[in-house]
Amino acid sequence: MPQLPLLPRLPQLIETKEEFLRWRQSLISHSVGLVATMGNLHAGHISLVEKSFQENEHTIVTIFVNPKQFGPKEDFAKYPRTLSEDEEKLMASWKRLTPSKNLIIFAPKTTEEIYPPKFLTTISVGKISKLWEGTHRPGHFEGVATVVYLLFQIIKPSIAYFGAKDFQQVQVIKKMTTDLLLDIKIMACPIVRDHDGLALSSRNQYLTTEGRKQSLVLPQTLNLAAKILIEEDNFENFSAFLEKTKENDDRWEYLAYCDSETLINLKQKQPNGILLGVYKVDGTRLLDNLLITLTIKN
Ligand code: PAF
Repeated sequence: MPQLPLLPRLPQLIETKEEFLRWRQSLISHSVGLVATMGNLHAGHISLVEKSFQENEHTIVTIFVNPKQFGPKEDFAKYPRTLSEDEEKLMASWKRLTPSKNLIIFAPKTTEEIYPPKFLTTISVGKISKLWEGTHRPGHFEGVATVVYLLFQIIKPSIAYFGAKDFQQVQVIKKMTTDLLLDIKIMACPIVRDHDGLALSSRNQYLTTEGRKQSLVLPQTLNLAAKILIEEDNFENFSAFLEKTKENDDRWEYLAYCDSETLINLKQKQPNGILLGVYKVDGTRLLDNLLITLTIKN
């Protein structure tokens, strides 16, 4: 049956699951793009939203600070909640780009909208969620996988957009989607950086002026390590560079060269590798990564 063109509608804010489900049931077979966020939107989030606008009739942006992905000593309570500013940024982007398409902001107003009383289930994606971030933030990816699965069930997107800055998160979500036979395309979108190279993150605002300067060690080291890996024939020299860098500066939580799918640490160059790093400044963990695609000569 030919699809009727959609009439332009003003963006809507929906704050309850019930209302969202009612809206979702009224849709007939148009593509739905999901951008799942915890709010405090910056240009990195907006780049995902704009990609979704380009590719879908409907874009759903979820704003939900998910308690299950924060450890007991982490920043759940102080995580910035800025719903009005987020709405303004989304409206501005929608007006600029696609007022003929639909934007829904789903911002559950209570935690119970997502986790009703007596909710018991946890989704665990195995080994890939225990490495790196999983080691330093036990339970983090269980919290992410559980909320993303629930959001997928509520939103029923055709495609979901995630920022590649949280590279391990994207790999965990891809694996969960494949293993649980979810018919959703997962799209990893490029990291958006500040003018000086620091990857955008809502947590950058926790940095002091001095910390903001120190944070540049992270992208600069990843770039230098990539250069050494590409130019150096001796893998041991490259590994020694990573080891020395960590030894000389205890702000590194990890810095590693890994397989870009399994995230297992590599002991030699390979075509699809990634450098993963976490550098801690002013008590804030800054994440970054750099994909390195190589042609390996035999
Ligand atoms: O990347 C984030 O902001 C969160 O981990 C996500 C995917 C919205 C799940 O809470």
